[in-house]
Amino acid sequence: MTDNAFDVLIIGSGGAGLSLALKLADHCVNVAVLSKFALTAGSTYYAQGGISAVFDADDSIESHIEDTLNAGAGLCDPEIVRLAVTYGKNSINWLREQGVVFTEETVVTGETKLHLTREGGHSHRRVVHAADATGKAVSLSLIERAMEHASITLFEHHNVVELITQKTPNNKSKTAVGAYVLDSQQHHVKTMTARVVVLATGGASKVYLYSTNPQSATGDGIALAWRAGCRVSNMEFMQFHPTCLYHPNAGSFLITEAVRGEGGKLVLPDGSPFMQDFDPRGELAPRDIVARAIDHEIKKRGIDCVYLDISHKPEAFIREHFPNIYEQCLKFDIDITKQPIPVVPAAHYTCGGIMTDSYARTDIVNLYAVGEVASTGLHGANRMASNSLLECLVFADRASEDILKKLVDIPSPPSIRDWDESKVSNSDEEVVVSHNWDELRRFMWDYVGIVRTDKRLDRAMHRVDLLKQEIAEYYGNFRVTSDLLELRNLVIVAELIIRCAQLRKESRGLHYTLDYPNTDDSKPPQNSILIPDQAYR
Ligand code: FAD
Ligand code: SIN
Repeated sequence: MTDNAFDVLIIGSGGAGLSLALKLADHCVNVAVLSKFALTAGSTYYAQGGISAVFDADDSIESHIEDTLNAGAGLCDPEIVRLAVTYGKNSINWLREQGVVFTEETVVTGETKLHLTREGGHSHRRVVHAADATGKAVSLSLIERAMEHASITLFEHHNVVELITQKTPNNKSKTAVGAYVLDSQQHHVKTMTARVVVLATGGASKVYLYSTNPQSATGDGIALAWRAGCRVSNMEFMQFHPTCLYHPNAGSFLITEAVRGEGGKLVLPDGSPFMQDFDPRGELAPRDIVARAIDHEIKKRGIDCVYLDISHKPEAFIREHFPNIYEQCLKFDIDITKQPIPVVPAAHYTCGGIMTDSYARTDIVNLYAVGEVASTGLHGANRMASNSLLECLVFADRASEDILKKLVDIPSPPSIRDWDESKVSNSDEEVVVSHNWDELRRFMWDYVGIVRTDKRLDRAMHRVDLLKQEIAEYYGNFRVTSDLLELRNLVIVAELIIRCAQLRKESRGLHYTLDYPNTDDSKPPQNSILIPDQAYR
């Protein structure tokens, strides 16, 4: 093998990518893991609330399944939901074996147990967590284990430009054999080959102006797979988290749903509660309902934000359960033990993505997709809180099982032509990229956000068409940079979201349109499935 040839190339170092890498490497498989920035760059590091799993004696797998199906508004795949939920306990135990320390409590018998918190849509306490910084605990433990593993090679600041595929001899399907990767510190595009390629690149919420997500969430994996010929589904179901801190200097800082789970109330600027007017479950209704209610109040009253108030709880309780949020808010002179927190909804999670089967296999042979990048059928039209990290772990396990079974029969990839830079030059107008980034994210927020209409979707699509042309021309003439690659992917993701939204002539889960405000119960619920045309395939 050359320096850049591996058994398995995993694109993404979040919960999905690293779990899969560790599971494969424990069987001596030679694995490369790429991150386009630092290893902690993905959403996993920022996860707050926790991971859902049935541990409480009063809870049951059936109840977790029922809650997930309810949140998913008729579009979850029941088999996949059962598979994922049943694996919950195993996934927590596996993480504990990797060194993740979760919050515990001592119960009346003197026994120590995992502390379980509660979030929207869950009818029981079933969210395992590490205070209010679960993702950091998970991410750091997995990175530490991966760094010490002899079979894993980690590449930071390596941004995938394009997947490399080859036609199978009968010309009927394609096989993944590697990727062209920009080493953004050396400014050089490498050819990396592998017998199996895995997309674990996370979500696409950065397609919106306001988002809880880190910079990395530009939907690269979805765009890469689409260009390579994979089907994509349910992209209209972009989830808006109801409570992102509203402060001019806060950037995107989430206030976990667990604050509401532990008794936090949503109130208007005059202190009056409003959630009961929208749903009998109040603050703990599923996210789509809470985000829409807040959006409605903000628009109706012309206010900047609403408030989340937990200050009625004892100070010690707040500081113990939400130490990270307490400290962060204090930096902005908000003492959450004494005053309400200003909050607004922001784009948070991509429920749709690359279509995969129950082993995380995509439409391309030897190409897998795991984690937020995939559309497995678990979330349907609306993901329930804390089911995402669970999905990363479950499908990392499923993919590893499948890969380990067949790796021995997959030949090493043939030699691949290197990336050709002979016809491009350095850009002389970077402003085109930054301008288009801003424009795209603003019109997606204004026209394809929490409340949509046919007219708004048409307007957005018109702009996507213009941007696509401009970006294609720029990409054809200039050397690739990380910003350009992200923009090129974002515009495809925007198109896929709009096309799925245009297909859905009803409101369901996270997709709400004023032109079809009701759910269409006259026929069975349908997934929105997009098939790449011949140009891609
Ligand atoms: P990520 O963790 O996003 O990792 C993506 C990786 O792919 C990164 O390493 C990135 O660098 C890499 N990458 C992307 N594009 C490229 C490219 N072109 N080339 C190379 N590398 C690339 N879910 C829960 O279940 N519970 C929670 O409590 C919770 N809280 C959350 C809080 C916040 C603030 C956010 C943003 C999300 C939260 N979520 C939560 C959602 C959950 O964190 C994510 O869905 C999950 O972590 C996604 O993991 P992943 O491994 O699929 O992707
Ligand atoms: C949160 O902590 O509110 C986020 C949980 C999630 O997105 O699952």
